[in-house]
Amino acid sequence: MEERLVSAESQPMEDSIESGIRPLSFSQYIGQEKVKRNLEVYIQAAKMREESLDHVLLHGPPGLGKTTLSAIIASEMGVQMRTTSGPAIERPGDLAAILTALEPGDVLFIDEIHRLNRTVEEVLYPAMEDFCLDIVIGQGPTARSVRLDLPPFTLVGATTRAGMISAPLRDRFGVMERLEYYNEQELADIIRRTADIFATELEEGAAEELSRRARGTPRIANRLLKRVRDFAQVEAEGVITYQLAAGALERLQVDRLGLDHIDDKLLRGMIEKFRGGPVGLDTIAATIGEASDTIEDLYEPYLLQIGFIQRTPRGRVVTHACYEHFQLEVPKS
Ligand code: ADE
Repeated sequence: MEERLVSAESQPMEDSIESGIRPLSFSQYIGQEKVKRNLEVYIQAAKMREESLDHVLLHGPPGLGKTTLSAIIASEMGVQMRTTSGPAIERPGDLAAILTALEPGDVLFIDEIHRLNRTVEEVLYPAMEDFCLDIVIGQGPTARSVRLDLPPFTLVGATTRAGMISAPLRDRFGVMERLEYYNEQELADIIRRTADIFATELEEGAAEELSRRARGTPRIANRLLKRVRDFAQVEAEGVITYQLAAGALERLQVDRLGLDHIDDKLLRGMIEKFRGGPVGLDTIAATIGEASDTIEDLYEPYLLQIGFIQRTPRGRVVTHACYEHFQLEVPKS
């Protein structure tokens, strides 16, 4: 089962790179002030009562720090975090094996929890509510149900799609926190912190330029920093000046709002092929050769946030602000 737990962790390579720059405590974690303040209170209260922390649901766009926060919760509670994901738990038995291996107080982190299947979810309900498993032994008329006690634990669920979580599952989380996009100041602080860990020198204005183009997302900010650092190392003796950052970002095809070539393809596709919409998500996806899920989870939330597209009952539409950004004329209706 350990193996399954390990393999369920996404991209081990990326994890090992990420782990060095991940904040390990609330004091190192920049941004999400409201979420942090709330969680700190709940953690302190649980510790004072010597109880496990209530189950926590973290939701919001990808790359904002749900996994990191879960690890911090475990660390501040002084317990281990076990990591898995919705799609990795295929059968009730898989979940039972994970749950019975937990130590008292452990955090079980389930990423993409909206992708758990129904039969697995049903095992989770009594586990969350009463810390027990109902196991059916045998088949047919002789089958009987046995109740197995579990150690108290904290489930931390993460999802980009809170709306896709079934009501019975959602109701079993005592804490629900939504992560918001970071502002430019916070992103610049994150970039400076990461550059410090990399021992890379950032000159005046470079962190700000990166933060403007990071789509409110620390994962993107750190990824841009890593690529810009590559350019600095090969072409400029390692120092990231404003000029170098701006030039490297052009070469990465990240525009001044942080839109990349896929956003570009998506928005221009809607404008050129569908007169700006309304157009359905699947149609857009098919036209530009991307998966609908990828667009919906990864690209659309930020485009909605900056007001470049709107969702209407008849489909997605491009806004005037988007036409302006591309210096295109709005078609006459
Ligand atoms: N690296 C990624 N996200 C971070 C955050 N919120 N604070 C500090 N460093 C980070």
